[in-house]
Amino acid sequence: MTTNPNSASGASPSSDTNQARDPHTLRSSRWFAPDDMRSFGHRSRLKGMGFDDIDYEGRPVVAILNTWSDLNTCHSHFRNRADEVRRGILQSGGFPVEVPVMSLGEMMMKPTTMLYRNLLAMEVEEVLRCHPIDAAVLMGGCDKTVPAMLMGAISADIPSVFLPAGPMLKARWKEATLGSGSDVWKYWDERLAGNLCDRDWNCIENCIAPSAGTCMTMGTASTMACVAEALGFTLGGAANVPAVVAEHSRLAVATGRQAVEMAWEKRTPSSFLTERSIVNGVITSLAIGGSTNAIVHLIAIAGRLGIELTLERFDELSRITPVLGNLRPAGQYLMEDFYHAGGLRALLKELGELVDTSCQTISGVSLGQQIAEAEVIDNDVIRSRENPLAVVGGTSVLRGNLAPSGCVIKALAAEPRLQRHRGVAVVFDNYAEMKAQIHDPELEVTADSVLILRSAGPLGAPGFPEWGMLPIPQKLLQEGVRDMVRISDARMSGTSYGTCVLHIAPESAAGGPLALVQTGDEIEIDIPGRRIHWHVSDAEIARREQQQPEPKPLADRGYLHLYAKHVMQADKGCDFDFLVGRTPGAEPDIF
Ligand code: FES
Repeated sequence: MTTNPNSASGASPSSDTNQARDPHTLRSSRWFAPDDMRSFGHRSRLKGMGFDDIDYEGRPVVAILNTWSDLNTCHSHFRNRADEVRRGILQSGGFPVEVPVMSLGEMMMKPTTMLYRNLLAMEVEEVLRCHPIDAAVLMGGCDKTVPAMLMGAISADIPSVFLPAGPMLKARWKEATLGSGSDVWKYWDERLAGNLCDRDWNCIENCIAPSAGTCMTMGTASTMACVAEALGFTLGGAANVPAVVAEHSRLAVATGRQAVEMAWEKRTPSSFLTERSIVNGVITSLAIGGSTNAIVHLIAIAGRLGIELTLERFDELSRITPVLGNLRPAGQYLMEDFYHAGGLRALLKELGELVDTSCQTISGVSLGQQIAEAEVIDNDVIRSRENPLAVVGGTSVLRGNLAPSGCVIKALAAEPRLQRHRGVAVVFDNYAEMKAQIHDPELEVTADSVLILRSAGPLGAPGFPEWGMLPIPQKLLQEGVRDMVRISDARMSGTSYGTCVLHIAPESAAGGPLALVQTGDEIEIDIPGRRIHWHVSDAEIARREQQQPEPKPLADRGYLHLYAKHVMQADKGCDFDFLVGRTPGAEPDIF
């Protein structure tokens, strides 16, 4: 086994362990053990695939839930990785079965993958429940695949270990080190400002995504991979291993071995996840300077456990958690640097008593045991608590008459001069209107204006897309403006930055006050004071309310119909209301 304290590790091969364990305790034995006609059918069809008794008899069935797809660019290595997981399962005496599940590739799916997070969560839950599966390896990585798979596994409550896709390698262009996502926004602004020629823009297109893997900034994918590890859902050290290094292959094999152990030990999500694990997840997302999307996903994950995680709790933790990860877009470095600097385990160790190290993990050891030997190799990438990137407050929750149920801002990614700001609103009714008008030279806008976008929330868009980093008007870019206050009921990509107030709840399409704001109204934000205020009288608000048209139904058929009826608002995690709570569905009858 590995000797590097920062290398990912897991269960050792144990091909003889099956002999000491009773196969009749396995869930899959309900399908395969009985001497009846139905079980005969199950066994004979495995034989029809070329398997013999020795392949599966007495062995845990371990499913490899694979989100590989040609249209998910971040998971392009998952075909090979699934074979490596399979190798690990065989090493430990399991019977591997690969099961494809829906892939949510952030770049290609429209209007947004978030529309389908709950659909993948439902698929994972139902696939696990209806098959003869004793344990599962969840292969995900690109943004929403992580929370979706964790939510589904929690609800199914079948032993499951998460295998993160891992980040892409760093990209280089001329002297610059590029980060996918963040640098696309940056260089696009420079192109609009007239500072970048077509040839350079084309060169950036050719090199900004240099390998398989997820975005290599601390965007949503890496944030959620770190959260998954902090929750105890991965092998120690799994969150940061780059997608294409040899260690990622070894991680896949070790994860397969681990799943077999979990099947025998019946190490279900409910056996190790607690409210304290969720708090560890929140603190982790804050300490790495993670994506604002983690708030929505963590609320939803907690909800599946029957735990209410409020925005207030998130803000409380934000006020005591230093930002130690010096990672883009808030900081300087990329995920490959984080990996070489010691990775998440070293950062968690640096957080000291802020992390509850007694929480358990899928490995059957505590989080404390999992991080005990980790070391910080580069203390500029992983800062100490004495020298943090920010003392507290990576992400803040604001409230006020424009967001009665709250909204969030990644304060760390906002220009200091805009932390307290009052300006005149420039309102766009929807994304199409914003896109058509934002660069119009006639648009009445200044660097002090407050750009507002509505109809961009869970119901409005629909699906809660990442439109929250509204573009800076071209005429202001040409004047050198690079940040402005932007407010919306949208989310923002974890790779985005700027003074963007997000997740306004309730959203405009659900009757929130954002629907009533007009161009010319004054809006004030006060991040240190956690306040957002719309300077319009109550009488004027009441008058505008009366003039609001009745909302139209989103859809009268299909998934969108189900979604519109049951999706909750951002402050509740956007899960479906009927999936919240620890109420596992019944085991299927086998007749
Ligand atoms: Fe998949 Fe960024 S596009 S992680």
